[in-house]
Amino acid sequence: MKCLVTGGAGYVGSHVVISLLDAGHDVVVLDNLSTGHLSAIPEGARFWNIDLADITATRNAIASENWDVVLHFAALSSVGDSMRTPFHYLRYNAMNSLNVIESCVDCNVRRFVFSSTAALFGEEIKSTKASESTVINPSSPYGDSKFFIEKTLSWADRIYGMRSACLSV
Ligand SMILES: NC(=O)c1ccc[n+]([C@@H]2O[C@H](COP(=O)([O-])OP(=O)(O)OC[C@H]3O[C@@H](n4cnc5c(N)ncnc54)[C@H](O)[C@@H]3O)[C@@H](O)[C@H]2O)c1
Repeated sequence: MKCLVTGGAGYVGSHVVISLLDAGHDVVVLDNLSTGHLSAIPEGARFWNIDLADITATRNAIASENWDVVLHFAALSSVGDSMRTPFHYLRYNAMNSLNVIESCVDCNVRRFVFSSTAALFGEEIKSTKASESTVINPSSPYGDSKFFIEKTLSWADRIYGMRSACLSV
């Protein structure tokens, strides 16, 4: 499959890129290297240095090839930092993700994988493993920014038929 991985120069994304390449897929990493590293991008993946805040560049990148799937890892991801700069976190994660999701819908991408978080489940998750029925109750702006994106993806599915999976670790 032809796969676009946002945040593929980061910790989690770069390991997913390794797995995708090992499975024989064609991978492009879209990353602005704000917390990621060029050296973390596995050999065999193409790299596009793009900031998701730039909606025109993001849309052009997504429009430039026919993706079988877009996997979205690029985000700010510290619970503690999000308590110190809540509005920055909410805006950054929501707006950048909206730029990706809307571009995917416009370009008829049919499959989307989103790196969400166990922080969606707030205190619930400390005493038990999360299941599909675990109550969503974010206890940080970081968790809430991810919940907003999950809901956005649900609308993208219901209204435009873009299927998605949200990963929680
Ligand atoms: N690390 C974990 O334990 C963990 C747990 C749960 C969820 N997650 C989620 O997984 C994803 C990746 O986390 P990580 O730990 O690998 O973080 P990371 O900071 O190592 O990776 C994030 C990547 O996204 C890129 N990026 C950030 N903003 C960007 C932008 N505006 N445009 C383009 N690229 C941008 C960064 O340069 C970096 O390469 C995040 O969405 C995070 O919320 C991580």
